[in-house]
Amino acid sequence: MRNTILLVLFLITTLFAVLVYFIPQTGTIILLSISGLLTLIAVYDSLQTQHSLLRSFPLVARLRWVFEEEREKIQQYFIEDDLNGTPINREKRSIVYQRSKLEKETIPFGTQHNVYAKGYEFVKHSIFPKDYHTIKGEAIVFGSDKCTQKYQSSIINISAMSFGSLSSNAIMALNQGAKMANFAHNTGEGGISPYHLQGGDLIFQVGTGYFGAGKTVNGKRVFNDEIFKENAIRPEVKMIEIKFSQGAKPGHGGILPAMKNTPEIAAIRKVEVGTQVDSPPSHSAFSNFEEMIVFIQKVRELSEGKPVGIKLCVGNNDEIKQMIEAFVKANNYPDFIAVDGGEGGTGAAPLEFTNYIGTPLIEGLVFVNKILQKYKLKEQIKIIASGKAIDAFDVVKYLALGADAVGIARGFMLSLGCIQARECNLDTCPVGVATQDEDLVKALVVEKKNIRVKNYHDKTIQAVKEMTAAMGLDSINQIASKHVFRRKKDDKIVSLEEVYY
Ligand SMILES: Cc1cc2nc3c(=O)[nH]c(=O)nc-3n(C[C@H](O)[C@H](O)[C@H](O)COP(=O)(O)O)c2cc1C
Ligand code: SF4
Repeated sequence: MRNTILLVLFLITTLFAVLVYFIPQTGTIILLSISGLLTLIAVYDSLQTQHSLLRSFPLVARLRWVFEEEREKIQQYFIEDDLNGTPINREKRSIVYQRSKLEKETIPFGTQHNVYAKGYEFVKHSIFPKDYHTIKGEAIVFGSDKCTQKYQSSIINISAMSFGSLSSNAIMALNQGAKMANFAHNTGEGGISPYHLQGGDLIFQVGTGYFGAGKTVNGKRVFNDEIFKENAIRPEVKMIEIKFSQGAKPGHGGILPAMKNTPEIAAIRKVEVGTQVDSPPSHSAFSNFEEMIVFIQKVRELSEGKPVGIKLCVGNNDEIKQMIEAFVKANNYPDFIAVDGGEGGTGAAPLEFTNYIGTPLIEGLVFVNKILQKYKLKEQIKIIASGKAIDAFDVVKYLALGADAVGIARGFMLSLGCIQARECNLDTCPVGVATQDEDLVKALVVEKKNIRVKNYHDKTIQAVKEMTAAMGLDSINQIASKHVFRRKKDDKIVSLEEVYY
């Protein structure tokens, strides 16, 4: 180590001597200051006790940090190809950007997918395709026989993302886009902020923290009838979603990092400013299925008969079965179940929860669909599926597997300009989507991005219709698991009906 310090000092001194010899006085003073500063940093590095690498390699080891920090960008800009980027690959990101900006949507020269690889999926077209303009089924009516204010929405809506995880401008652009194209915007579990009230339809999410639906009593977040009702009966609120879990962190509860908990957000959520806000993992309003059903009915009545759904990532299948049986026994049920996949997105989550907890969407969706069919509740309880739906094929596939509608979160973030920098938990989002830093928030111009949200929605619906038409069907409602195929082995292709049903 000592040798390294000596070497660094020797190099700096040599450089200094050379410059003094060749460069006139002003330049020499500047260089003297720079080299002096570098020498001080090198001495500090060698004496500090926090980082072994820096003690051994003063100054130069700092380069490693720079590269570590920029690694993701270098990967995205120079190394990643169109299909291997994660979580959303470049091909998928590009189609969102193109659809949002109404730019060209065509691909030159042919597919980059290996159509002979195991797992390759596709739909079969008809010899007699339809005209996509005539295709029906882009809307769906939510509301079981227990609800009195049914709601007709698009089959593609914005999945839950709170003001807090997203910026004020992002929320405004999403809501305005939803208004322009007549689809629904889920508030996320952070409550309803003024930015949500731009005229677009809202799905008011009630999480375990009861933000906008409860208060703190003896240090515990509890549901409060009056606070909930005040928000639930707003005309913008079309449906209520009680969140049990989300795929990115099932069994954990929401996390608002301290640096994103601004005075405004703290005031909306009624929590202490500048602290990390962890929602509890489970609801304090109920602790078994019977109480859950009573709570659902209470929420329905407080919201004056609006559709009430639950959101979960499938965990223990037996529990889900018991829940559905409890619905049958009570002859009361939610109006929809939003099934989120383990592959789902988040603003912030612990690594183990994101990577290793929660059933992936396809298996979860198929299970919930089958069990609702078995107990003849499919007509009453609609299914919303969410988990990496980006393009029309994703939507078609989830509809084929039993979803009635699809929730999209990250796709809409991309339409707002998200570049997948993956800093949503740091408050440094460079494009103003997932930050509360006022200077960064300004980067997102609401009047430009609201239209992109609308365009992404509308163009994706159009692409779903075009696929449906190519398959020879008359309506999106007719898409079924027998229409989607997967290469199972080198020489064997099966339909998703054969795989899952
Ligand atoms: C930034 C961000 C914030 C989110 N916040 C919430 C939330 O408040 N409540 C919730 O139920 N899900 C939340 N989610 C999960 C999404 O609603 C969705 O279920 C999940 O990301 C899957 O959809 P996607 O693959 O289209 O992103 C969030 C996701 C993201 C990316
Ligand atoms: S650009 Fe990065 S930090 Fe911003 S929303 Fe997208 S992934 Fe998150």
